[in-house]
Amino acid sequence: MRVVFLGPPGAGKGTQAKQEAERLRVLYIATGDELRKAISAGTPLGQKVRRYTTSGQLVPDGVIIDLVRELLTQPQGRDGVIFDGFPRTLPQAEALDALLRERGEALDAVLYFDVPAETVVERLSGRRVCRACGATYHIQYIPPKVAGKCDRCGGELYQRDDDRAETVRERLRVYAAQAAGLLDYYRAQDLLVPIQGGRSIEEVRGEVQAAMARLPAGRGDRGTVARQRLP
Ligand code: AP5
Repeated sequence: MRVVFLGPPGAGKGTQAKQEAERLRVLYIATGDELRKAISAGTPLGQKVRRYTTSGQLVPDGVIIDLVRELLTQPQGRDGVIFDGFPRTLPQAEALDALLRERGEALDAVLYFDVPAETVVERLSGRRVCRACGATYHIQYIPPKVAGKCDRCGGELYQRDDDRAETVRERLRVYAAQAAGLLDYYRAQDLLVPIQGGRSIEEVRGEVQAAMARLPAGRGDRGTVARQRLP
């Protein structure tokens, strides 16, 4: 299966996508996570993209497409891929189609997390991330057992630079500018599956798992997916 998790910043894409990829044992590609890893390791990629991510701007399409092309070469990708935070622009969506076509594959679905803006702001302002293993918490909804420490590895929890209020506003503006075009693109291919992302994590998980269970067994066979149409 090849599935995109699409939605505004803070919609809960990463929370659900990581769990689904682990559960289904497929490759998980999160461009934002990869960029943050590169920034904290100080690689040439990290130096190139830092100014974009800290200001809430999109990293140029060419950089992102090269990154995804490389990530797709991992062997696990043959069993399936969940894309989180990619594609974010029409050129990225077209490039993804072309990359998959070269591999004899196609997207099976695009799960669209529909979440009200006020919910997103509340989620991002309370998000904390483990510096060591990347696990995500929320000070109210998923608090760690010991404040400031990761339950999984004991690592230090921190607030992402781009989760500051002014950067969040810019990220939401940038998302809104691209979203309609992307949604039209996938709607035209009958790939969109709406997810009511504003509910509790467990409720959203149930809806995501049900959507994934309806995907066809055959790769790129779009004929048997039972999709709900968006209004
Ligand atoms: P990226 O890391 O992809 O950020 P994003 O898309 O803005 O998404 P987030 O990680 O903020 O949100 P999420 O939906 O994953 O929410 P989460 O599950 O963590 O990108 C960062 C930057 O990198 C971009 O601004 C850009 O500069 C660059 N970039 C990345 N990809 C790019 C691309 N393709 N092209 C160009 N540039 C790119 O949840 C949020 C919080 O809510 C957490 O605390 C979580 O615990 C909590 N939560 C989750 N679900 C629920 C729920 N149901 N109820 C209550 N709380 C919940």
